[in-house]
Amino acid sequence: MIEVRNLTKRFKDRTVLNGVSFQVNEGEIFGYLGPNGAGKTTTMRIILGLLKPTAGNALVWGQNLGENEGLRRRIGVLLEHDGLYERISAYENLDYYAQLYGVSSRVEKIENLLEFTGLSDRKDDKVGKFSKGMKRKLALARAIIHDPDVLFLDEPSAGLDPEAQIMVRDLILRLSGEERMTVFLNSHDLDEVQRICSKIAILQRGEIKAYDTVDNLRGRYTKPTVEIALSDGREVEKALNLLSSLNYISECKQHNDGITVTLTESEMSSTLLSFLVEQGLKVEEIKRVTKSLEDIYLEIVRREESNE
Ligand SMILES: Nc1ncnc2c1ncn2[C@@H]1O[C@H](COP(=O)(O)OP(=O)(O)OP(=O)(O)O)[C@@H](O)[C@H]1O
Ligand SMILES: [Mg+2]
Repeated sequence: MIEVRNLTKRFKDRTVLNGVSFQVNEGEIFGYLGPNGAGKTTTMRIILGLLKPTAGNALVWGQNLGENEGLRRRIGVLLEHDGLYERISAYENLDYYAQLYGVSSRVEKIENLLEFTGLSDRKDDKVGKFSKGMKRKLALARAIIHDPDVLFLDEPSAGLDPEAQIMVRDLILRLSGEERMTVFLNSHDLDEVQRICSKIAILQRGEIKAYDTVDNLRGRYTKPTVEIALSDGREVEKALNLLSSLNYISECKQHNDGITVTLTESEMSSTLLSFLVEQGLKVEEIKRVTKSLEDIYLEIVRREESNE
């Protein structure tokens, strides 16, 4: 549905995107991650046809959005800047877009969105007087008012309170699940991305460093790790000595009253448990450690930084 091929963008002598390729399939929630200045917003602006690439192309439904006005109707956009009209009310902002897109049952639709985003009681206030988070919520409502097929969100949760962040997350999941909306999400909220995205790409200095599902990345970038809690904290040192001689352990270190062990293969955890018991150690708990997307992200980004 979205196809980005060999995208390169230079601003004067600065190369901001360098041969970026990926695709987003229908119904997917795609998380586009990367450090500040990596080129995420630039990529999104090129896909939307707001910026011309230096080389390569970005197509949606096989077409260039910059050259196809008609397709814009099927796209919802929330950019870094809210782009709201500050001198008119929240209701009037939504009404303006609803009319522009020829939305049917306009009043009901607007009221529902205002209710959902918690802005109903402020609907007649001028947007210029809204807080940052309130503007963000309104901009999100505006982005989906015409039931687009594809939604582009550039850091939708930035500046939102925890409850509103959950609202955004649930909304994206609902739109994807019930309306089969395809979502392109630029985000720094790795917990949010981990919870909702079917696939992610990590962009760093204009190049894609990882592109896969979170689970596959986890498998590729993290080694099987277990945490062992001993009933008697004084036995930690003894355990560390014993463990350091085992060939199926690549690393072990103390962690509070327990030990974190990195195994060469995940199947070895039961062998490890038997070994500890045979040595007379009282194991209170042994549990597998699942790395978060944040761990994986930091590993990829830091590895790349140290390579450069
Ligand atoms: N119009 C422009 N002219 C010159 N340089 C630009 C322009 N727009 C973006 N850049 C540069 O392109 C690079 C990537 O910017 P971009 O906004 O795409 O990053 P980003 O990944 O969205 O970062 P953030 O996470 O901070 O939003 C930056 O170095 C920025 O200075
Ligand atoms: Mg950005």
